[in-house]
Amino acid sequence: MEIKDNISLKPYNTFGIDVIAKHFVEVTGLAQLQRLLQLSAYPDKFIISGGSNMLLTKDIEALVMHINLKGIRIVEEDQETVTIKIMAGENWHDLVLWTLDHDYGGLENLSLIPGNTGTAPIQNIGAYGVELKDVFVGCEAMNVQNQELQAFSKEDCQFGYRDSIFKNKAKGKYIITSVMLKLTKANHKLHTFYGAIEDELKQMNVVTPTIRDISNAVVSIRSKKLPDPKEIGNSGSFFKNPVVSKKTFEKLQKKHPNVPFYKMDDDTYKIPTGWLIEQCGFKGKRFGDAGVHEKQALVLVNYGNARGVEILELAEKVQKTVATKFGIRLFPEVNIIK
Ligand code: EPU
Repeated sequence: MEIKDNISLKPYNTFGIDVIAKHFVEVTGLAQLQRLLQLSAYPDKFIISGGSNMLLTKDIEALVMHINLKGIRIVEEDQETVTIKIMAGENWHDLVLWTLDHDYGGLENLSLIPGNTGTAPIQNIGAYGVELKDVFVGCEAMNVQNQELQAFSKEDCQFGYRDSIFKNKAKGKYIITSVMLKLTKANHKLHTFYGAIEDELKQMNVVTPTIRDISNAVVSIRSKKLPDPKEIGNSGSFFKNPVVSKKTFEKLQKKHPNVPFYKMDDDTYKIPTGWLIEQCGFKGKRFGDAGVHEKQALVLVNYGNARGVEILELAEKVQKTVATKFGIRLFPEVNIIK
């Protein structure tokens, strides 16, 4: 196992931030992961996987471990369903394409989400009416302290909106090594109710969609709205959509009758952050190489050589302006490494 010194992390984070890892190692096996965690020469470790949900703002002194565990296998199946175990380093969208090739249903709405499978549970990735938790059975994670592999059930993970135990109580204590998902082999449950998907399928002249059609529709919608990290550095939604009470929502609606919203239950409403940011005039604005995406205002972008702190300054400016104009506090979805 080769530990390299002074490696640029630019290719390892989708924001494309150029910081240096003082020490860097590729992790390709579980026994190797155990040994690395025991290394006393490098007491501090920093885990990076797909690097799609982090903003790096400084060089990393700790040993950077790039989780590159590979493999997909079927662990159980019957006539209707299949349970698959996916190693953490498998690219998420490649996994989605693999499930479509096998006609396994459940992941089609989650097409084209950047990142790797092992990090999907951390923020319970979601898009177009589906969240990871809808197909999730469990995951295995290595305890950083004692290097034991521990099984987490769906309940153990305490999933919420872009949230799980791995962002809270278990933060920094485990490395997810594999994920188990239960998918359909027949009678796929299609989720086409999300407005944009219906419209896209109509434009594609699809009347009875297959899971592949839905995936194609999602890929098309996302490609139109969201920047491709290979071309413009970004981490998807930078902020969560704020969840507010009915009272707060009604006050906001009185002042801004055209405010879009998702009603979650009788007393909770989600407001699209993209709208709040656009109303503050930030959409498409550029400050040096840091910017607010021109087609989706909740995505912050790196046009090339932005430093992490420049993106962070922009995020703070956006947060302050939204708080002043609307009295709503925005919380980052992205993990900020300070
Ligand atoms: N909007 C604007 N201006 C903008 C962007 C959005 O006014 O610049 C308003 C529009 O009214 C639009 C509404 O916001 O109809 C919703 O926009 P969109 O459908 O793009 O969804 P979102 O709420 O902005 C969430 C997720 C996305 C996910 C989409 C689709 C969060 C933080 N983001 O965005 O997730 O793809 O729904 O399901 O929940 C991600 O997490 O990285 C991500 C991209």
